Amino acid sequence: MTQKDSTAVTEAQIAVHWQEEDYFHPSTKFIAQANMSDAGIYERFSLDNFPECYKEYADLLTWYQYWHTTLDTSDAPCWKWFVGGKINAAYNCVDRHLDQYKNKAALIYVPEPEEEPHEVLTYQELYIRVNEMAALLRDFAGLKAGDRVTIHMPMTPELPITMLACARLGVIHSVVFGGFSGRACGERAADSGSRVLITMDAYYRNGNLLNHKTKADIAVQVAAEEGQTVDKVLVWQRYRGKYSSDTPMVEGQDHFVNDLLKNYRGHRVEPVQMPAEAPLFLMYTSGTTGRPKGCQHSIGGYLAYVTGTSKYVQDIHPEDVYWCMADIGWITGHSYIVYGPLALAATSVMFEGVPTFPDAGRAWRIAEQLDVNIFHTAPTTVRMLRKAGPDEPGKYNYHFKHMTTVGEPIEPEVWRWYYEVVGRGEAAIVDTWWQTETGGFLCSTMPALHPMKPGSAGPAVPGIHPIIYDEDGSEIPPGSGVAGNICIQNPWPGAFQTIWGDRDRYVNTYYAKYCKDRNSKDWRDWPYFPGDAAVQAPDGYYRILGRVDDVINVAGHRLGTKELESACLVVDEVAEAAVVPVADELKGRVPDIYISLKPGFVPSKEIEERVINEISNTIGPIAKPKHVYIVPDMPKTRSGKIMRRVLAALSNKSDVGDVTTLANPEIVEEVRKMVQSG
Ligand code: WTA
Repeated sequence: MTQKDSTAVTEAQIAVHWQEEDYFHPSTKFIAQANMSDAGIYERFSLDNFPECYKEYADLLTWYQYWHTTLDTSDAPCWKWFVGGKINAAYNCVDRHLDQYKNKAALIYVPEPEEEPHEVLTYQELYIRVNEMAALLRDFAGLKAGDRVTIHMPMTPELPITMLACARLGVIHSVVFGGFSGRACGERAADSGSRVLITMDAYYRNGNLLNHKTKADIAVQVAAEEGQTVDKVLVWQRYRGKYSSDTPMVEGQDHFVNDLLKNYRGHRVEPVQMPAEAPLFLMYTSGTTGRPKGCQHSIGGYLAYVTGTSKYVQDIHPEDVYWCMADIGWITGHSYIVYGPLALAATSVMFEGVPTFPDAGRAWRIAEQLDVNIFHTAPTTVRMLRKAGPDEPGKYNYHFKHMTTVGEPIEPEVWRWYYEVVGRGEAAIVDTWWQTETGGFLCSTMPALHPMKPGSAGPAVPGIHPIIYDEDGSEIPPGSGVAGNICIQNPWPGAFQTIWGDRDRYVNTYYAKYCKDRNSKDWRDWPYFPGDAAVQAPDGYYRILGRVDDVINVAGHRLGTKELESACLVVDEVAEAAVVPVADELKGRVPDIYISLKPGFVPSKEIEERVINEISNTIGPIAKPKHVYIVPDMPKTRSGKIMRRVLAALSNKSDVGDVTTLANPEIVEEVRKMVQSG
């Protein structure tokens, strides 16, 4: 693969080169019960049947009114699905199940402290609580369809309740990962134009009850600095009726949700019949420049897509107990804890805490107690659990029929432990490749139809038609085993519609690179470029090699290197900062930070610590760097660009390549000694 900008560092470049692996076959027992065991689905979802094939997914939902146009391309590449259709997401995830399943668990909430009881919400209870919250949002907060609301909450049932209450009103929710800082939350609130922020006082993590409300104060202030007034902060309580934070409530601005809800007891709110193509939510994700991008997802298309893929790829039946360990603050949680599973009347488990707390058996005890049979997590968690207790799963009596891995490539070694030890060789595994932007899965085996291959996501899912291009836009022939930039040839209903407030950035980031004609209204001219490098093996399976842009995938979460670099520059002494991905045994990738100081300052541990603190405060602890190196100078091109590729090679102990053309080649050896001496 060639690189158009020699200063760029890509994850793909530091990807491990794995050999081809053997196949593992799903059991006959799994196949016999699977929702999808008809290979004909690929024919039904062929390009010849596009876009009408997606009716099959839309038909899994309940519509107030059917659509007249399946795919409207008139505003290419802002695709609109199921135009003319009227639908409500909360109705589909809650109300419609009442007849058959009102007394069945919708959500089972497992608090982190093991002595606290689980909280089970039946579909009936969920219905009541979503209605009361919707009444509060409408009548107290004055929210209506199309308004945006920022939700900064931990993993408690109040989070999906709040999301579904918004969806009931057609209000667009923007959930910010609870672990993110108040600043990150405030910036996102400002970008989305939210005047209401919904938060919680506290939550448990690693045995500590963290003060979360304090972040709301910062968020409101940061939003104000960016010109957005947040006039209402709604505060849920981790323990109902008790305030578990020592941060004062702001008079006239902050309100306890549980107090207000008393005024709405028994209230019912008719679901608003929304146009299918109206936005359901925004989900911010990191991009190549500083500002995070608000990916706008639609109601009808998104819900159809996550429901279809939950049914067929996740193999969720109403009688299953499904546990996805992701946080709802990420896209995985939106699509595959909340919307997809609930649309299928599943029982979805939510866990507040850390799976290795208080010990490495916690996750498996939960699985045993609840008799979880579908398990969904990320490679970073699998690595963590394996390290903390390689034999731990064997001590518990649970049986998974199906397991998912998502968010980053999984090493075959780790995959085999997942398969043999966690899954006891009984569970079918799907390695699902997709993104915040794509709403749902793009590549994965269909669990009853394909054998698994460790380290490979598998073929594209039905209706997704990938193509691999080289840098110049020539197609790399299918199955040639040569890496390139993977693109999707066709739109699909789960895809985001645009970047909130920035259509040009949407077009430029995802479509400009391989667009055949910028004036075209034909989807065939607009391949979608996700920003990942991939290689397709002769058997048709795709292996994803990593990001080709300035984004580091840390433990399955995308962090923009520019965001990290600008946080470093806030520290007074810092003149320049460069952030590169370095391979990490547990997290897959973590950032290594190189800084140079302004003249007159001497390197010190204290400066390093301030850089680390600044990153934690601006972005959140997940962005914590592996190392901070204070270097005398950055390796630079003659035109003055920092050679991040060289720094990445040093961090990863790989070949730096030819550095003779640099402006200061001698610095490379000096930095190498510093980095590789430890
Ligand atoms: C990476 C998470 C390899 C990829 C759902 C993508 C993966 C980015 C896989 C999206 C996988 C996700 N194998 N790489 N199975 N799944 N990725 O937006 O680089 O947080 O572009 O969405 O994660 O991250 P995001």
